Formats: sequence, structure tokens, C-alpha cells
Amino acid sequence: MLKLVAQQLRHQMRLISRASDVSYTKATASVTSGVSSSQEQQQSTQPPSIEVNKALEGWPEKLRKAGVGDIDFNLKCLVAHVLGRKFNTVKDYNNLLFTDTQMQNFERLCEARCARMPLQYILGEWDFMDLTLKTSPSVFIPRPETEEFVSKVIEVYRDVKEPIKMLEVGCGSGAMSLAILHALPNVQSTAIERGNAATELARENAKLVGLESRFIVYHHTMEEDKYLPSELANETYDLIIGNPPYVKSEEFPLLQPEVVCYENLNALDGGPDGLRVARLVFNLACKHLRPGGKLWLELGEDHPPLVQTIMDTQYEGRLRYIAGYKDQYKRNRFVEIEKPETAN
Ligand SMILES: C[S@@+](CC[C@H](N)C(=O)[O-])C[C@H]1O[C@@H](n2cnc3c(N)ncnc32)[C@H](O)[C@@H]1O
Repeated sequence: MLKLVAQQLRHQMRLISRASDVSYTKATASVTSGVSSSQEQQQSTQPPSIEVNKALEGWPEKLRKAGVGDIDFNLKCLVAHVLGRKFNTVKDYNNLLFTDTQMQNFERLCEARCARMPLQYILGEWDFMDLTLKTSPSVFIPRPETEEFVSKVIEVYRDVKEPIKMLEVGCGSGAMSLAILHALPNVQSTAIERGNAATELARENAKLVGLESRFIVYHHTMEEDKYLPSELANETYDLIIGNPPYVKSEEFPLLQPEVVCYENLNALDGGPDGLRVARLVFNLACKHLRPGGKLWLELGEDHPPLVQTIMDTQYEGRLRYIAGYKDQYKRNRFVEIEKPETAN
């Protein structure tokens, strides 16, 4: 059913792309093949001669027709990327020039954005809290709300002086673990991730930010009764975190094309009530959380009360719901669960 929704959306995107005079397939292929890397642009010896203001002509309208929001921000990010500069160093376009190659690259990237490829995939990197991490097509793009979730976890553990053994379930790009490791030097993180590309990217990001000695990523799909890889079968953790796929099946048609067409459905699909993967994490926590340890999850807006009921009715004596916390939009999104000291 979800694959069908994604297929239909991709078809619609091709129609939108045609209407805005760009090619969805060409745009996607040219960006993912890395034709426009900023390194290549910097190596160019051509003199810059094309005014950026001129190069921009027509693109706001094409992007608008394609349904892209915040066009000024998108264009500024793309111009900065093509020039090999940080976004915040481009104040306006006056006196900025492209070489011929940069101009061609800019047009390719704009085409990709018209085809609704997420800006994060086009640029190939994105900031998460204090870290700049690589992004990669099909690996889940860390969201701003996840920064709030991670900040909350950091705040709670900031004063703990003892070593903290953490497990992350479904680490994607590694953003959550890496931000926590960056802030808290006494944490050691082990992560599991079902996606091959995501596992590789998380390892690459750990190296990029110099945290690989405290972050180990296993390519493993958590399943009932096989929650962790066999080498971790007897491990317990002080803290388990996760942002499991939590989109309800019925919500898929409401998602933006950027999400459905380009992100991995395995990173999003939470089943009929959005808690299919979270339920596995609850069972994992019963087995792999030490008594007194905490499970923190980022979930969907309706989930905290439902999780509280599930804890009270199905996990009594094994896991205890502590609290739900709101994100900046006042949506109840983050849950804190404890394994009682008396549980075994
Ligand atoms: C919503 S994404 C979150 C990624 C990352 N934690 C973040 O916040 O950016 C969920 C991640 O869980 C992974 N995942 C889903 N089901 C899994 C399972 N059964 N075992 C391991 N990883 C899983 C997906 O591949 C995806 O990378």
C-alpha cells in the first residue's frame, strides 16, 4: 500500500516536473551521480563572468510552480553551495559571479529541487546541532524536532559523571548518537541500523566528526526475539534511545513529495497505529536495559498517551512510563520510560 502511494507520487512528480519544464529523472540522476561537487567547481580555471542575479532569472517561478516552499532560502542555499561557500556568508547576490561550469551546475541543482529532491540530499551535507554531517539519498534526513529531543536527553544526563553505556535503535545518519557523544564525553554509543547505506553513512559521519572511537554501528534489523546482533545478545545498557519509524499508514498520502519520493519507506513506516517498530523497542528494552535504566523515544504526536496505556496494561513490572514531553510546536512527542529497579 505504501509502495503504491510512493509510486503514485513519483508519477505526479514527473507531471509537475514537465509542467515546470524540468526533467525529474535527469535532475535526480545528475545530482546523485555527484556531477556538481563543490570540489570540481573550485578546481575550475574558467574566469567567473555570469552574474548570479542573471543566473537566477526564471528559477523562482519554476520552483513556485513545482510547489517548493521558501524559495529565497532554497535559492540562497543552492547559490552558496555552487560557489563552495557557507550559506550564511552569502548576504545578497550583488557582485557574485558564476563560471560557465558553475552556471551549469546551478541549473542542474535547481532542476533537482524542482523535482522536489530534498535540499539536504542536493547539498550532500546538513547541520545537526553543532555538527555538520553528510547526507545521502535514501538515508533519513535528521529533523529539527530531533534536535530538541537530543537536547532534552543531553540536559537530563549532563550532570551524570559515571560512564554511560547507550544503545541507539535505528541510527540513520548517526545524528542523534553523534550529537550526544559530542556533548557528553562519558557516553559510549552502540547503534543498530537495518539500512546498508545508513549504516555506512553513520560510520562515515562518526569519522568525519572524530567520534568513531565511541560509536559502533551494527548493520542489523531488530526483529522479535532477535533484537540485537548475536555478539550483543547478553549486553545491557544504561540508556536506550531511538526515533523509530512512526508514520501511520493512513498518513502517507499527506506527506510531502520530498519525503515519499526520496526518503526510505523503512525509515518512516510505523504500520497502522505508527507503533509497529516502537513495540519491538519496548521488548528490546525489557531484555537489554539495565534495571533503573531509561528508554527515550521520539514518536508521533498521538503516541505518548497510547504508550502510557501500553506500559500500564502490557508491561507492568517490566517498564514504567515516566513522562511525555512537548516539542516547540507544543506537540507531545518525546517519551521517557524506565525499567524499574525491581525488574530483572
Ligand atoms: C525515522 S529514522 C531515524 C534515523 C535517525 N535516528 C534520525 O533521527 O535521524 C528510523 C531509522 O530506523 C531504521 N530502522 C527501521 N526499522 C528498523 C529495525 N527493525 N531495525 C533496525 N533499524 C531499523 C531505519 O532504517 C531508519 O534509519
